[in-house]
Amino acid sequence: MFKIDNHNLFEELGLPKLVELSTAFYTRVYADEDPWFRNMFPDDMDSAIQNQYEFFAQRLGGPQIYSARKGHPALRARHASFPITKRAAERWLEHMNAALDEVGIAGIQKEALLEFFTDTAFFLQNLDDSNQRIY
Ligand code: HEM
Repeated sequence: MFKIDNHNLFEELGLPKLVELSTAFYTRVYADEDPWFRNMFPDDMDSAIQNQYEFFAQRLGGPQIYSARKGHPALRARHASFPITKRAAERWLEHMNAALDEVGIAGIQKEALLEFFTDTAFFLQNLDDSNQRIY
């Protein structure tokens, strides 16, 4: 149970705000100066944005639009081929934190989203500090 499950953030924020958030986030990711991070992401930024905001919409209490198009999110399986170290999880969270600020998501909404994102980012870590696979 996360704080995001105490509200319907999809209704509070609306789909256009989630599109804005994912666009702001991925614009930062694709502009990241460090190739070890940026090069994990496929060339198609538009698809990455759509995958993310559709997932957020359904996870935050909206219609199941991600699953209707792609099936179960299965986040661990879908991230298994990317080298996700602790440093990568932290970088992802830095970009997301900045994107939340950029689109004006603040207060309890930001706090709840960051709790969910932080927990999920470290759950997706699949390499330890010596680059050994964790799962
Ligand atoms: C820990 C750091 C993370 C890294 C390095 C990472 C990396 C990636 C990459 C490279 C993709 C492929 C882009 C695409 O084509 O869609 C992706 C997709 C995705 N990520 Fe992450 N991610 C991270 C954390 C997260 C977190 C915290 C969430 C959710 C809260 C998340 C949700 C997703 C979703 C829903 C997709 C689309 C999957 C698909 O449809 O194939 N990711 N991620």
